[in-house]
Amino acid sequence: MRVQGHDTRAIWLEPDGKSIGIIDQTKLPHEFATRRLTNLAEAAQAIQSMQVRGAPLIGATAAYGVAIAMKHDASDQSLDQACKTLMATRPTAVNLRWAVEEMRRYLSGLPPSARAAKAYERAAAICDEDVEINRAIGDNGVVLIEAAWRKKGERGAVEILTHCNAGWLATVDWGTATAPIYRAQELGIPLHIWVDETRPRNQGASLTAWELREQGIAHTVIADNAGGHLMQHGRVDLCLVGTDRVTATGDVANKIGTYLKALAARDNNVPFYVALPSPTVDWTIADGVREIPIEERDAREVTEIAGRLPDGTVARVQLTPDGSPAANPAFDVTPARLVTGLITERGICPASRDGLLSLFPERRLAANA
Ligand code: MRU
Repeated sequence: MRVQGHDTRAIWLEPDGKSIGIIDQTKLPHEFATRRLTNLAEAAQAIQSMQVRGAPLIGATAAYGVAIAMKHDASDQSLDQACKTLMATRPTAVNLRWAVEEMRRYLSGLPPSARAAKAYERAAAICDEDVEINRAIGDNGVVLIEAAWRKKGERGAVEILTHCNAGWLATVDWGTATAPIYRAQELGIPLHIWVDETRPRNQGASLTAWELREQGIAHTVIADNAGGHLMQHGRVDLCLVGTDRVTATGDVANKIGTYLKALAARDNNVPFYVALPSPTVDWTIADGVREIPIEERDAREVTEIAGRLPDGTVARVQLTPDGSPAANPAFDVTPARLVTGLITERGICPASRDGLLSLFPERRLAANA
């Protein structure tokens, strides 16, 4: 998508053919800074510190992390170590495991001398596949926005509420929840996006708002607690969010606070859709609340906040009394029964085992094998 008018992806291979370029997302929205990853430790640290974040982008970075490791040392031990190091960075987004396992599967049958080149090839293909998947999610999901537009008598703007950042910054390009929004913009449908700030890390206020502004899409940042009120007053036509892991039965893990939005949406008859690429489905589990590991992050993300001062410098300040403990679960699980539908690259389906299998029938065969 566009940054200051230039087409940009969220991750790229640098011209030296070995290091990886990323946007340092911890600096947005106040500074657009890029960073070069040159070794495995830097790739792992970029994921852990959330310089790169969002389930698909974490997977893409991990794939390139394995490639960088292979460039330095392509032995079996090095491959094993790279996979372990990357897997330990963040626990909830299953795309990380998917990408690491895919790289291991692809490389382990090759002689070490062939691994580095093939690893870069596969990582680049994973990135390109992500872009194509998200484009297809856009094509499939835009029908929901078109329907909402027709339902409103083609008056005003379609009002969409989103949580966290499931935009192009969270993927390689297009985003998942934002792909239908960007397609609707291309079709000339008037849009207005309610952007949940998404405490504690404010991915909505700092990333989604920045992304939509760069893309020229009307939006308003709201406090996380405002969504229910807006839904009660008919100000939301559709909720559209991303996800870090979907169970084989359609339960959805996403950024903390998503569950509360789904509850409010159900109470107000607002459709609640989740957009996901197929690597986000964890076919091995059925009960999201019990089985999806929820990342617990540093309590200082809750007790402190960063922002720009009038002199332009960015500073962190403390919000809470000295000594008050804080807890920071980073994700929650929305049960399938609260999800109106799943938007995938193969189409839209009910959030259920049968729904998912109707789009991915090869998984039924695998389950029966
Ligand atoms: O902690 P983050 O910023 O990595 O969490 C990101 C989200 O929760 C996104 O909604 C999810 O990864 C979907 S991204 C297309």
